[in-house]
Amino acid sequence: MTAPFHSLPSHRGDLVTGSLAAFRAAPHRFPAELAEQHGGLARFRILRRQFLAVTDPVAIGEILDRPADFVRGRQYRNIEAVVGPGLLVTDGPGWRERRQLLNPLFRADRLRQVVATTQSVMQGLLDQWAHTARAGGAIELCRAARTLTITVMAQTLLSHALPPAQIERLSELIHTGTQRIRQRNISLFSLPFWVPTRVNRDLLSAARYLHDLLAEEIRSASSPAAGEQGHLLAALASLHEAHTGRPLPTAALIDELRSLFVAGFETTSAAFAWTVWRLARHPELAAGWHAEVDALPADQPLSLELLKKLPMTERFLQETLRLHPPVYTLSRVARHDLDLCGYRIPRGTQAIVSVYGLHRSPRHWSDPLEFRPDRFATNSPNPQHWIPFGAGPHLCIGMAFALLELKTALTQLGQRFRLSLVDSRDPPERAEISLSPGTEILLRVEPR
Ligand code: HEM
Repeated sequence: MTAPFHSLPSHRGDLVTGSLAAFRAAPHRFPAELAEQHGGLARFRILRRQFLAVTDPVAIGEILDRPADFVRGRQYRNIEAVVGPGLLVTDGPGWRERRQLLNPLFRADRLRQVVATTQSVMQGLLDQWAHTARAGGAIELCRAARTLTITVMAQTLLSHALPPAQIERLSELIHTGTQRIRQRNISLFSLPFWVPTRVNRDLLSAARYLHDLLAEEIRSASSPAAGEQGHLLAALASLHEAHTGRPLPTAALIDELRSLFVAGFETTSAAFAWTVWRLARHPELAAGWHAEVDALPADQPLSLELLKKLPMTERFLQETLRLHPPVYTLSRVARHDLDLCGYRIPRGTQAIVSVYGLHRSPRHWSDPLEFRPDRFATNSPNPQHWIPFGAGPHLCIGMAFALLELKTALTQLGQRFRLSLVDSRDPPERAEISLSPGTEILLRVEPR
């Protein structure tokens, strides 16, 4: 027997706007708390649109594993305005073909270059940190995290390193672009893109800059003078579409690169900032981490093989991604009327899978708000309860990329510095496109 949709427990919102105010005030906490209050599944309404807040692992599995029934929602159209129709926003057979084509490029063993690139970028950053420390200054952690990730991303994806001014501009534009996407996502009415509102202008200018930069990179990478060929752009350019047997057209290459930049930049930088903050915040736990990274052979560069020998670093990352998942919700829309966990869900209902709520649920975690990396000492994370990279067919394609980059950078950091915080208060959370620290974190580093 299937129960009707309206029999699901619901949030009592405003008569006209429904739960808009509560959702806007805390887009990470509102669906998490609502679903958790009602055993993992509840409904709410914004204007006339119906939503499901979900933290129940069975319902989550069904939603994420049924891409033909649950498709990406209206938010993705706003992302598409910046990145074009790449892997990050598409659905259906076109997405599947592209995903199959790109998957092999993102396997850990194909990503040795991420480790080497991160090592050289982080080395430069740590040298600057040493200089700042000698002068008695503190490091702006979130800013440094953005520089690290955008530089590694640009250097790994493109044919050469970009000059610092271009890196700065790229990081700023993607940051503004994603903020504007979020504004459009939570606004009551979004005017068409051709109306020159501030939000639309910023979005389109970010889109244009990224497009032109990447088009130029593709042109120079295909010239005979192009530099080393280990970068992902060369690998992407050598792929052939299954349905035509031809190389990916330039427009498709640009779209995929834009998707990768936008999907991988702020997520990885938020993860880095939260993890380093946690390491500085828990010196009693960080001691074991220092011992682990010190045990690596000093005369060898980091490699995929060495990075596998860092269980403590891995647990720190897993626990940070549990409490501070950069992608805090996953949204899908029901394509037609369907059944989910005993309820009839009407077509057009938007499911908000709360990664944040699932990761903090006392039903699945003991002392869920405690930072305890050791909870993963004997068991790796349960894939039903720990989904910072999503689940099902849309599982993050950049997961190995991000984890290799994070592990490499953290290892270098731990080998070189002891960490402490200028301000012992916990930073607020800022839930925009990613969940990141809401204020700059000032970090003190002391050479070891
Ligand atoms: C810590 C860092 C990262 C986190 C937490 C993260 C998280 C996620 C999550 C949760 C999804 C699934 C979205 C959904 O189901 O709707 C996703 C998808 C995606 N991610 Fe990541 N990501 C990270 C880093 C990266 C990096 C470095 C790249 C690129 C190099 C990347 C590229 C993508 C792409 C292209 C998709 C769409 C995949 C598809 O739908 O087939 N991500 N990511």
